[in-house]
Amino acid sequence: MNRPTPRESVALMAGYHSPQIEVDVRLNTNESPEPPPDGFVEAVAEQIAAIGWHRYPERGATELRSRIGASYGLRAEQVFAANGSNEVLQTLLLTFAGPGRTSIVFEPTYALHSHLSRVTGTTVVQGERADDFSIDLDEAERAIVEHEPDVVFLCSPNNPTGVVDPPETIRSVLDMVTSSGGLLCVDEAYGQFCDFSAVELLGDDTPLVVSRTYSKTWAMAAVRLGYLLAPQWVVSELEKVVLPYHLDAMTQIAGTVALDYLDAMQERVGRLVEERSRLMARLKDLPLDVWPSGANFILIRPKNHSGDAVWQGLVDRSVLIRNCATWPRLDGCLRITIGTPEEDDRLLDALTEVLA
Ligand SMILES: Cc1ncc(COP(=O)(O)O)c(C=O)c1O
Repeated sequence: MNRPTPRESVALMAGYHSPQIEVDVRLNTNESPEPPPDGFVEAVAEQIAAIGWHRYPERGATELRSRIGASYGLRAEQVFAANGSNEVLQTLLLTFAGPGRTSIVFEPTYALHSHLSRVTGTTVVQGERADDFSIDLDEAERAIVEHEPDVVFLCSPNNPTGVVDPPETIRSVLDMVTSSGGLLCVDEAYGQFCDFSAVELLGDDTPLVVSRTYSKTWAMAAVRLGYLLAPQWVVSELEKVVLPYHLDAMTQIAGTVALDYLDAMQERVGRLVEERSRLMARLKDLPLDVWPSGANFILIRPKNHSGDAVWQGLVDRSVLIRNCATWPRLDGCLRITIGTPEEDDRLLDALTEVLA
């Protein structure tokens, strides 16, 4: 049989893979190290038992969107929810980008921004960050003026570098994108771990959207739920594109119940931020370059060993972190998710041995 072939742009794609290896200590995908708070799973189970299983879920996910919106002082109409923020970003690109249109990313950054752009047939322009991985505003202006992109991605805190874009940077890029007639998407998957959120810049006449996820802070990576905070006109367009009934009843329930546990979640974020400081200080005592981080992970580069060798040495000691070698400009770099103090101690012991 002559096998049908995928579109050329798909055939060229390597896909997005973070190896899932069985180890004792998993610090590779920026999940929460703790399960959800006490009582959460029981509360979800009780509501799931009452689902009308023979019926489609509520199509507009209205309660979930109202509750998410209320937690930011926004209305349900300003919230779009989907199966993980990756699906949110894909829907955004399907709607506002696609064939004949352009997106801009500033590398090194979250690989899915360019991957999903390509999957949706969007032409991707890869701008460069400055040496310290902050956004270089001259480079941003050059890229935006030259390419007049339909969608521009910022990621703050940036994955995998941990760098947070200051409010002035986001405002300046927003001005540039507004002048060129595009849409600025600020990916805040790790937004709860830092001090500034672009949410405060949202407005009905502002071409700005902010994506967030339940996968990290909310300890709900298994559920697959993310959302976009946006002007109402953006949300209305996205709803035309996303599949009908894409958000199942269980996901809607889990996301709504989680909002009853906001205080517990804030406490967790506080604990993780403290643990980040402790881990950062310990890493700085080792022969490593260590980047500052506003997220729940830290980027390092061993000074006297190859990143690959250190990554493998840790796997041999049953500790998994992320090898960033395939990211542009991150040869030799490794990303460590903040774990529990016990997990981080295991990592530190293993790392000390490997680097000895
Ligand atoms: C910056 C960033 N955005 C979005 C996502 C996707 O998260 P999810 O699809 O689990 O909501 C991730 C996951 O690692 C991420 O790092």
